[in-house]
Amino acid sequence: METVIETKGLSKRYGTKVAVDNLDLTIQRGEVFGLLGPNGSGKTTTILMLLGLTEPTSGRVRVLGYDPTREPLKVKARVGYLPDQVGFYDELTARENLRYIARLNRIPYKEMERRIEAALQRMGLSEEALRRPVRTFSHGMRQRLGLAELLVKRAEIIILDEPTLGLDPEAAREFLKLIRGLKDEGVTVLLSSHLLHQVQAICDRVGLFHQGRMVLEGTVPDLAQRVLGGAYNIRLEASGPNISKCFDELAGVVRVQASNSHNGVYRYLVEAQHDVRGEAARAVVANGGTLLSLDLEQPSLDEVYAHYFKEVAHAA
Ligand SMILES: Nc1ncnc2c1ncn2[C@@H]1O[C@H](COP(=O)(O)OP(=O)(O)OP(=O)(O)O)[C@@H](O)[C@H]1O
Ligand SMILES: [Mg+2]
Repeated sequence: METVIETKGLSKRYGTKVAVDNLDLTIQRGEVFGLLGPNGSGKTTTILMLLGLTEPTSGRVRVLGYDPTREPLKVKARVGYLPDQVGFYDELTARENLRYIARLNRIPYKEMERRIEAALQRMGLSEEALRRPVRTFSHGMRQRLGLAELLVKRAEIIILDEPTLGLDPEAAREFLKLIRGLKDEGVTVLLSSHLLHQVQAICDRVGLFHQGRMVLEGTVPDLAQRVLGGAYNIRLEASGPNISKCFDELAGVVRVQASNSHNGVYRYLVEAQHDVRGEAARAVVANGGTLLSLDLEQPSLDEVYAHYFKEVAHAA
């Protein structure tokens, strides 16, 4: 494992307002990490500090071993940033914009043409679109072109601030697939988003921000474990006697709900700290029942998020 992003006690204040408060964040090469949290919780400020676009008030940041405040160009050469509104030369075509970027990055001509064609093809911009000035592009096309730019640069780390904001559902799905595809090539991805379902679908780990602090961090099952108690929800249908009690006794089970039987069939919801499908199935059979269905339901990040902020409101 190689740490590519590391912050220790990172803080940013604007006057008396603490935008980012004592952040410790470590991201490994090849991870897809999601920053979540309400408006104003410090996600964009964190991103800007990682890129050297805003200076920390205190604490330490390293991106690929560099301090972005002191060596912003070294960081920019290897890290790609996709803000929510990407700027292009609007009168130029997509290809011309990419050539401009490639020249800025001193990529040799032949290599440049090869990378540009590969990136455009991968982003699925049609030949017709490629003949038009970028001014005529839809928001979704601009986002794709922004990602193409990062591919041409061969960015090792890609940082995206609300990348799917304003994309239609189909375009968002496609875009996330493209991002997730980069992971397979060893690219590290850090993104912020409010769309929890999308975050859950593509992120390996997430960090939940609240008032400048990262209050939770981990995989979605980790977070569900901490916030909801049982991380694994197992739904069973079985005929035979009500065996809620037997499920309750299985190691790792947090809670069991049984719903009323009809035709001698019980429906159970077993919440557990690990996957107890095997043990639950055996318990049904051992008690003379017949297992009719068994499903492991992934806890949703939506539930974790809603539950966390409900508790916060309650505590306040
Ligand atoms: N340039 C600035 N000057 C003063 N305050 C700022 C500045 N930039 C951000 N802030 C404040 O810092 C806090 C964190 O803002 P930030 O933009 O990082 O939040 P965010 O999590 O990205 O929110 P959103 O989800 O709305 O994009 C907010 O209270 C914001 O008002
Ligand atoms: Mg923001």
